[in-house]
Amino acid sequence: MTMDLQAPSPAAPSPADTATAAGGRRLRERHFDVADKRVRVLLGEDVQDEMAETLGSLRADRFIVVTDDNVADVVAGKLAGALDAVAPTLLLSHPPGEEHKNLATLSRFVDLALDFGATRRTVVVAAGGGIPGNIAGLLAGLLFRGVRLVHVPTTVIAACDSVISVKQAVNTSHAKNMVGLYHPPELILVDLAVVALGSPRDLRSGTCETVKNALAIDPAQIPRLRRLLRRRADYTPADLGEIFDLSLAVKGRLLLADPYEKYSGLLLEYGHTIGHALELASTAHGAKEAALKHGEAVALGMVAAADVAHRMGLLDAADVAVHEELVDRAGVCRCLAAGIAPTTVLHHVAYDNKRGYRSCGGDEVAMVLLGALGKPLGADEHYLTPVPHAHVADAVHDLLRRGAQCPAAARGAEGHAAS
Ligand SMILES: NC(=O)c1ccc[n+]([C@@H]2O[C@H](COP(=O)([O-])OP(=O)(O)OC[C@H]3O[C@@H](n4cnc5c(N)ncnc54)[C@H](O)[C@@H]3O)[C@@H](O)[C@H]2O)c1
Ligand SMILES: [Zn+2]
Repeated sequence: MTMDLQAPSPAAPSPADTATAAGGRRLRERHFDVADKRVRVLLGEDVQDEMAETLGSLRADRFIVVTDDNVADVVAGKLAGALDAVAPTLLLSHPPGEEHKNLATLSRFVDLALDFGATRRTVVVAAGGGIPGNIAGLLAGLLFRGVRLVHVPTTVIAACDSVISVKQAVNTSHAKNMVGLYHPPELILVDLAVVALGSPRDLRSGTCETVKNALAIDPAQIPRLRRLLRRRADYTPADLGEIFDLSLAVKGRLLLADPYEKYSGLLLEYGHTIGHALELASTAHGAKEAALKHGEAVALGMVAAADVAHRMGLLDAADVAVHEELVDRAGVCRCLAAGIAPTTVLHHVAYDNKRGYRSCGGDEVAMVLLGALGKPLGADEHYLTPVPHAHVADAVHDLLRRGAQCPAAARGAEGHAAS
């Protein structure tokens, strides 16, 4: 299957597709089309009341709000309180962190939802970052084989990336996102003022997925991204709205062509093969603050993927340098703190969830690689290229070597953002 990755398709969502009054005049409307469904996205600033009003119009018999303990305090608790005035509402909260995005949390939430009396008319509301969003997505996809799901994303990653998808999954100890299903959201509600409340580290991490889209799919976005990215992470809600529009333009186009992300949609996995392995290895390793955030891991994964492609003679040095430049502008450090063994990374890489899309040798892993910016290789093979493990290990060694020389890395990942 082929598609022109950079040309907007006629039905693609466009930033001009805006300003529809919906559920309150302060909400702007966007949409994307996926799996025979048009998903409405309503966004604005300081629009908590309008969001509760819009949710109220869904005629749910119950709401189940899934969140984490931080977001419960910031917004989800208040939203659940407002919804409770419309229909009985249950707030399900888990401690923050990747280690809670697992079957144990999901199973507990399924039981609590059924104890609460969930029916086919119940609406699951994911209020939070990508982690509660993925847990809620899977919960909604499994209950009665599918109840309505509304996303209320509160991080950049969630708003600009994870909710613009039908993929829902949780982790196992082997690898990230190993157990899941496809379930489209009914509606997405974004309060950009809430997203802007994220920590500087989460804001920086969040922009890396948008950097990924520009590098791998739409390099025409790079000049606008250079203007938007802020190392200090002092983003206004309006900046975040622009970053959202950049992401939606790319993801909306890919999802229209490949809703289940098995062909051109796999380009969204750029930087994720090594990135996911680093994320999982860093979560398992030592102190919680040393764990890499998803976007930080993807940033390192993209730098490593560019390095691998360069070692294989596929990508020139100038394009590798653009990777480094944009990650640096996003404020994310381009090196790896000591403590993660390349062998551990290779162990997780071997369980990458793209396994099986194309055949590979026993000492190879299938990765999305670029021949130039916006020019992914292997279009006939799910955009995947077999990479010898030795190149992956060399690229990880290189990140570690840089980390050994980096004062920020020595302070651990918490202080590891470029400053
Ligand atoms: N297609 C997909 O499903 C997809 C795509 C991209 C990422 N993901 C997943 O998303 C996850 C990462 O998402 P994330 O970075 O949002 O993680 P997250 O949900 O852990 O949120 C990051 C942190 O921000 C806090 N937080 C959330 N909203 C806040 C706010 N408004 N103010 C202050 N703090 C806030 C959270 O409590 C958490 O500590 C990963 O598990 C990744 O695999 C999934
Ligand atoms: Zn990602």
